[in-house]
Amino acid sequence: MTLETIIQAQGGGGTSSHARSPLGLMEPERLPPTDRSKIVLRDLKQVYCLRSTERRKKEELVALENFTLSVDEGAFVAIVGPSGCGKSTLLDILAGLARPQHGDIHIDGRLVTGPALDRGFIMQGYALFPWRTVIENVGYGLEVKRVPKQQRREICKKYIDLVGLNGFEDRYPSELSGGMRQRVAIARSLAYDPKVLLMDEPFAAVDAQTREILQDELLNIWEKTGKTIIFITHSIEEAVLLAGQVVVMTARPGTIKKTVDIDLPRPRRAADMRVSADYKWITHRIWELLQNDDVAASDQNLPLDVGKDVASEIAPSTLL
Ligand SMILES: Nc1ncnc2c1ncn2[C@@H]1O[C@H](COP(=O)(O)OP(=O)(O)OP(=O)(O)O)[C@@H](O)[C@H]1O
Ligand SMILES: [Mg+2]
Repeated sequence: MTLETIIQAQGGGGTSSHARSPLGLMEPERLPPTDRSKIVLRDLKQVYCLRSTERRKKEELVALENFTLSVDEGAFVAIVGPSGCGKSTLLDILAGLARPQHGDIHIDGRLVTGPALDRGFIMQGYALFPWRTVIENVGYGLEVKRVPKQQRREICKKYIDLVGLNGFEDRYPSELSGGMRQRVAIARSLAYDPKVLLMDEPFAAVDAQTREILQDELLNIWEKTGKTIIFITHSIEEAVLLAGQVVVMTARPGTIKKTVDIDLPRPRRAADMRVSADYKWITHRIWELLQNDDVAASDQNLPLDVGKDVASEIAPSTLL
């Protein structure tokens, strides 16, 4: 069963509506809602109350602040930022699992007030149901959608096959490796065909080879179905390989430092990107952007010119 067959069987097809834009940096202000906006995040702020070491003293931690972003229908947006800057907090709010202290999110013009099947969420750390087998986990969203049993089984088998877990259908999560659990989580979120995929470091726990296979499969799925994807990763290489826009966050309280358009040609594949000078160049500049506040303050220092001879500009030691 090829991926294409699976997607056609599920009614997908056509090309993505992902907008091509010139490669360069965009200020956060350049991201107001447009007619193509699928998701609009407006001025989000999230504060956690912490247990204080001193009795009766309340402590607050601002995880996220002034976070405004508009995501076009069919866009593939990657979010990178230092550990603890509020990325998972942001995705929890997008998934409807948490309410922001301030601001709001609209998807297709509707206010997000809780979880719904229009969004598939792959959480950091799998979040599988331990009492359900692999096939029962993968079929969960389809059950909620009341897909008939036989059809549900067929769809589950296709996605279990896709993530390479044939033969493990009746195993429980506790009987799987970390990477296998992550693949179950991916299959589960794809099986019920949500229009928006929220992915929190989905490939972090898999080995390098599997990661590359899953990256290519995810690109295939996105190209064929035009799903809107928000993808959190610690890997700048992964962000540049996959995304049309990379949102670079500041340290906590997390806000948007810059949004970088990635106009590398598509279709992209991990193996091709590894040897692309443009890819290395952009990856390097985003790494600089993350590291260096001065660089972020000045756009003109970041001409991410695709096509220039970058080999002489990037010393091997500076590559990630
Ligand atoms: N439920 C909670 N209660 C209190 N503090 C929390 C809670 N969840 C997250 N935090 C804090 O909020 C901040 C942001 O956490 P979050 O998990 O969103 O970061 P992250 O960017 O996803 O980090 P990582 O890259 O390590 O996954 C962190 O300082 C974290 O300790
Ligand atoms: Mg996180």
